[in-house]
Amino acid sequence: MLPILKHLHMTFALLSFLGFTLRGIWMLMESDLLRRRWVKILPHINDTLLLLSALVLAGMMGLSPGAHPWLLTKIIALFVYIGLGVLAFRHPNKAVRTGAWVAALIVFLYIVSVAFSKHPMGFLLSLS
Ligand code: HEM
Repeated sequence: MLPILKHLHMTFALLSFLGFTLRGIWMLMESDLLRRRWVKILPHINDTLLLLSALVLAGMMGLSPGAHPWLLTKIIALFVYIGLGVLAFRHPNKAVRTGAWVAALIVFLYIVSVAFSKHPMGFLLSLS
């Protein structure tokens, strides 16, 4: 059960990244596709499943954010990613939208590096 859940979690994460990248490209191209209903709804469903799978996974593994700083880091960084994502598609200024989109992609890669290293610094460790 646990390996299946972990793979599901990783799949939701990958779908989130691919969808976010694609919508960002459509945003840069000022494509009408961004206004489609399913393009607006699907990311919310996927991100909810990503968070749910994460919480159930952590619960089943007996991991708590208080005892595992990398887990707390992932939760906080996920909200930063979501917040930047809102800016990336809703801010009236295109330069702000573009900056927020790039920042969100970097935050996402940081979360992946925290996931694999199990360290709150993730890839920042190799920069210091
Ligand atoms: C954008 C958000 C996220 C991404 C990209 C992501 C990515 C990943 C990846 C790639 C793994 C596999 C790591 C490995 O095989 O060692 C993983 C595992 C895991 N993630 Fe996430 N995750 C995200 C959010 C979260 C959040 C918010 C939580 C906390 C509730 C969480 C909890 C976990 C747990 C408990 C594992 C299993 C760790 C283990 O095998 O020891 N994830 N995540």
